[in-house]
Amino acid sequence: MKKMTVRDIDLTGKRVLVRVDFNVPFSAESGQITDDSRIRAALSTIEYLKKKGARIILASHMGRPDGQTVPSLSLRKVADRLEQILKQNILFADDCIGQQTLKSAMSLEEGGVLLLENLRFHPQEEADNHDPFAKQLAALAEIYVDDAFGTVHRAHASIVGVAKFLPAVSGLLLEKEIDALTHVLENPPKPFTVLLGGAKVSDKVGLLKNVMDKVDNILIGGGMAATFLCAKGLNVGCSRTEDIEAAKFILDSAAEKSVKIYLPDDVRVAARVDHESGVRNVKTDEIPTDMMIVDIGTLTISNFRHVLERSRTVFWNGPMGIYEIPQFAEGTVTMAKLIAEIHGTTIIGGGSTAENVLAMGLAEKMSFVSTGGGASLKFLSGKALPGVAALMDKKEASHE
Ligand code: 3PG
Repeated sequence: MKKMTVRDIDLTGKRVLVRVDFNVPFSAESGQITDDSRIRAALSTIEYLKKKGARIILASHMGRPDGQTVPSLSLRKVADRLEQILKQNILFADDCIGQQTLKSAMSLEEGGVLLLENLRFHPQEEADNHDPFAKQLAALAEIYVDDAFGTVHRAHASIVGVAKFLPAVSGLLLEKEIDALTHVLENPPKPFTVLLGGAKVSDKVGLLKNVMDKVDNILIGGGMAATFLCAKGLNVGCSRTEDIEAAKFILDSAAEKSVKIYLPDDVRVAARVDHESGVRNVKTDEIPTDMMIVDIGTLTISNFRHVLERSRTVFWNGPMGIYEIPQFAEGTVTMAKLIAEIHGTTIIGGGSTAENVLAMGLAEKMSFVSTGGGASLKFLSGKALPGVAALMDKKEASHE
């Protein structure tokens, strides 16, 4: 990574504001966190700062409260979980800014940890307000560390604004994520296969354009397959389609560059999306008009398997079907198991894909499971990430 990291700066005794991504899923009924992997992913930086004797102030968003205080989106539950994981007392500030919070930050001892309340309870966070909001956040600390890979694609006050007022460096998670994804973009071991699913084509077009010169195979499943099948003139029943022109463009440029695109040859279809719904395996040229695609089919699974088994680098983002319903989950589950067996570089691109892999206990078998869905797609589409751009360059720093 070309940016300065926590390893490049003196942290001893310093108050350090760390932007983390603790946007973790929780049960609507009990409020209990259902997957704490994003909290655990931040531990390497937190432990590093503790070892260096820093005073640690953690800041994050949770959900999309739209600038309002929404009690169910309080980070207090994260403070409780962090306390269990770190086995130390965690101070909690009821607001991310203000006199009381400043007092708590000043009272921290070396190695002490303060977690701030949800940044997005203030509309200024998403508006990237620098003065007074980012300035008030910056006043809590002497150094800023960005370790929130999952949110690094957002130009928000705690990501871009704060970096204007404090020496700004990367945390160890952010560094690891950027290094892993850079490996995919620069000289990936070949054959290089990208497996994409999920609902939206528009989320993936940037990535597809950017990797077209590097990739050998593109496998397309999930909801977005309907748009590609439609672009090829097939009837997709009542499946939702989106930007058909974008899909045509991708198909044309793949043909031009001799990149192989594999679309489903068969799919699973259902009349309704619910737990009781029946499911049928049909060829893609036989999709009934009153049914929708809910998963890739048996033949497609076998075709995708054949390509994946020969690949040396695989990047996967997006489920193959509506995996939340067990009878529509086979494609997603099989892809996860197949990728786990590949001897090569396997990168899982965050979001629900990462959740699946973690829930299946396969994370350890992958080369890297990213904590950021939107962020990894943006990085692989070649676009600058505002949170990374805001950090100090290594070269610049050595001239100081
Ligand atoms: C995520 O879960 O993708 C990140 O935390 C970013 O959240 P956002 O999409 O609400 O900005």
